[in-house]
Amino acid sequence: MSNDKLEQLRKLKEEAKLGGGEKRIQVQHEKGKLTARERLDILLDEGSFEEIDMLVRHRSHDFGLEKQRYLGDGVVTGHGAIDGRKVFVFSQDFTVFGGSLSEAHAEKICKIMDIAIKVGAPVIGLNDSGGARIQEGVVSLGGYADIFLRNTLASGVIPQISAVMGPCAGGAVYSPAITDFILMVKNTSHMFVTGPNVVKTVTHENVSFEDLGGAVTHATKSGVAHFACENEIECLQNVRKLVSYIPSNNLEDPPFVETDDDPNRSEKKLQSIIPDNPNKPYDMKDVITAILDTNEFFEVHSLYAPNIVVGFGRLGGRSVGIIANQPAVLAGVLDIDSSIKGARFVRFCDAFNIPLVVFEDVPGFLPGTEQEWRGIIKHGAKLLYAFCEATVPKITVITRKAYGGAYDVMNSKHIRGDVNYAWPSAEIAVMGPQGAVEIIFKKQIDKAENKEKALEQKVNEFRQKFANPFIAAERGYVDDVIEPTETRPRLIRALTMLDTKVDRNPKKKHGNIPL
Ligand code: HXC
Repeated sequence: MSNDKLEQLRKLKEEAKLGGGEKRIQVQHEKGKLTARERLDILLDEGSFEEIDMLVRHRSHDFGLEKQRYLGDGVVTGHGAIDGRKVFVFSQDFTVFGGSLSEAHAEKICKIMDIAIKVGAPVIGLNDSGGARIQEGVVSLGGYADIFLRNTLASGVIPQISAVMGPCAGGAVYSPAITDFILMVKNTSHMFVTGPNVVKTVTHENVSFEDLGGAVTHATKSGVAHFACENEIECLQNVRKLVSYIPSNNLEDPPFVETDDDPNRSEKKLQSIIPDNPNKPYDMKDVITAILDTNEFFEVHSLYAPNIVVGFGRLGGRSVGIIANQPAVLAGVLDIDSSIKGARFVRFCDAFNIPLVVFEDVPGFLPGTEQEWRGIIKHGAKLLYAFCEATVPKITVITRKAYGGAYDVMNSKHIRGDVNYAWPSAEIAVMGPQGAVEIIFKKQIDKAENKEKALEQKVNEFRQKFANPFIAAERGYVDDVIEPTETRPRLIRALTMLDTKVDRNPKKKHGNIPL
């Protein structure tokens, strides 16, 4: 081969690596952002990236585009490894037409999605784009739709993770929205259907980019983002961590990670974690971290609906998805936001063979017009539906309250909980003692000379009779009442027993989860 040809190839590749050129790279850095390629260097194992379609250019001839035909066309695509495991990636290059999505750009993304589905590996998208390439018009819109379709078809087949690291606006938001997890970076990433200017014109509201669609907004208010990261490096490291807990596709099990943490470790502090007063809060995250391998809990969606806690951990080396009521926030009550948050997480774990471990301390569903009128009925049903349909190993530990419909919802025995434990502090009943007594002994209490004393007496009676785990245990609704200190070994043994679990739902096109 002539040196000229090799020289030509090398020159083209060098040019492609520069994207929109040095000047625009400098502007990108000045905004506190890394380039598309720098991000991939951090995301992937060193030297593992294999690029595809580096030499693709757009085919547009309108608005002078024919004179600006950058190699790669604003997106770097290919595959690489995270902890030695194969992943597919696309990383939008804001230095080329603001990372805007053209026909060719969309084709590159679709190509790696198609291969990822066939080989069964996650797709990780690093989004940094001004949206549809305006000069290309409907062709660009078609490109988006091609991606949305693949996002949907891949859902539940391979994990899809979106890191939003710059603008992501208009219809473009709907690709990340269909994926399993969204990570954003504080101050430099924004997601909205319409930006602050349009908002001002239409609703006369003055709102900044950050307030309308920044990382904190989406991690706290809308729940669109699962992680609000301090900077891009933290964001990319979180993607790596997330991948470590999940399998490559829906036919595989999550990676097993050997641990030095003794499976029989008993945790003394759990003995005294539940306050004597049943109305006093405690932090369920203390329970979770005490039990998991090396006390590591990778919380997901931590800033949204914190009255429910979800995230990943390992028990005896196996990945588990944790869903826990949080008595330290709103007494751990289930409301609309926490039901939706929990349901989505349960469905992800079920789709990807990740066993569910539930820690339950729930006084019930949140009363009030605000919740009823916004549809707590249909939204609460999402969590119920998600637990009912899940066929992965499902384990519950009732630490304290399991009241009302919430008892049923939180992976009770009746909806195919495989192993259901309760601590001696558990209170399993239709409702709390106070509320129950005020209803069933109303007349007697009204007639009593000392109403307060009569009420107290009945509350105590009720608590003695029902606010414990033993009636449920008598019926086998809990499999055992266990000492809090032995929770870790009991959970690990339950997971080992359930290792080979097979359960199937009736054949159907798909269910109709109440949306
Ligand atoms: C083509 C674009 C572009 C776009 C930006 N650029 N967005 N080119 N199509 N959509 C180009 C700019 O011309 C500029 O080119 C370079 O990218 C950087 O843009 P700047 O404006 O200089 O950057 P910045 O100040 O950081 O602002 C970023 C921005 C802004 C907020 C994203 O560019 C912007 O508002 N862009 C338009 C966003 C938009 O309305 N997109 C369409 C949304 S509708 P030069 O050559 O100067 O470097 C949509 C529909 C999708 O996306 C529907 C799917 C169903």
